[in-house]
Amino acid sequence: MRKRFFGTSAFLVACSVITVSAQASSDSPATPGAKSNGELELPTNYAETWSHAGTVFVGGDLHNTYIKQEDLSYYKQHGKFRDGTVLVKEIRGSKSGTLTTGDARWGSDVKTWFVMMKDEKGRFQKSGLWGNGWGWSQYNGDNPQKQIATDYKKNCLVCHIPAKDTDWVYINKYPLLALDAKPVAENSQKVIIEGDAKTGKALFNSCQGCHSVQPSDNGVGPSLFGVYGRKAGSLSDYDYSGAMKNSTVIWNDSSLDKHLADPKGFIPGNYMGDSFPKGVVGAGDRASLIEYLKTLK
Ligand code: HEC
Ligand code: HEC
Repeated sequence: MRKRFFGTSAFLVACSVITVSAQASSDSPATPGAKSNGELELPTNYAETWSHAGTVFVGGDLHNTYIKQEDLSYYKQHGKFRDGTVLVKEIRGSKSGTLTTGDARWGSDVKTWFVMMKDEKGRFQKSGLWGNGWGWSQYNGDNPQKQIATDYKKNCLVCHIPAKDTDWVYINKYPLLALDAKPVAENSQKVIIEGDAKTGKALFNSCQGCHSVQPSDNGVGPSLFGVYGRKAGSLSDYDYSGAMKNSTVIWNDSSLDKHLADPKGFIPGNYMGDSFPKGVVGAGDRASLIEYLKTLK
């Protein structure tokens, strides 16, 4: 009896040793907070239980950033983010009105979540969502189940270059993280996002169902030949909505970016807003499309 009992437990010990070493040597060991394909999970309870690092107001939106308390303590003590630290930024729309305190704005629904996870181990090297010391992911408010970033360099990093010296995080925008932060260049966002026309041409796939690039060739939408630099709604051989025809917008980098980011909201009531309401989500993608539109002349 006794002998047999020992035999079994030695067998069990051997098994668990094998299991552990198999996990350690696998290509992508399980990472808490990340799915096996490298997408970061969207934390659900951050607002209730994490520290609120700070809020940045952008246009009418509130950008709220959260970090776990234990990761914040480590950061404050060591002046750097430890491996596995997760940062969540939710972008909320806002409502406004006059309260007894004055002209006020308060948060409404979440439009988008951005998630970053500090990575000192070079995880998920093949995924396209990991690199430069972090994992990167994005979820939209209308479908929080679906992660939408595909290439962190194009979808995220281009916009974080001004914060390169502070580990890609805009730490001096957050009261809780700013301790002895090195200053991050202001207004650098505009300079940074560079599109390229070749990528833009490929992305134009999503437009060509409605738009031709040949002169005087109108479809559902107007021809986009020569669109860069012209007044919105100004082709004489296309029947525009009143909204677009009467707008005073000139198509340049900034107005095209806004129209493509929000086809419904930038020129309210224009027809493209109804048929293509989501527009183009990535800032890098929009920049590339705009570079391509510039070549159509
Ligand atoms: C249009 C430019 C832009 C894009 C694209 C962008 N970011 Fe950011 N991100 C910023 C700026 C600027 C801030 C800080 C201020 C703010 O919120 O506007 C920021 C802040 C953040 C924060 C809060 C911590 C910090 O760094 O300040 C996270 C997390 C974040 N971004 C993740 C991402 C991820 C992940 C992606 C890609 C899926 C991404 N961002 C794409 C510009 C961008
Ligand atoms: C489902 C159809 C549809 C898709 C897809 C679409 N558009 Fe449009 N677009 C329109 C319509 C319709 C108009 C005219 C709007 C109006 O008259 O109110 C328009 C107008 C425009 C204008 C203004 C042109 C002018 O002459 O003032 C630009 C610029 C534009 N679209 C760019 C794009 C780009 C770039 C894409 C792809 C990322 C795209 N659109 C995708 C339907 C579409």
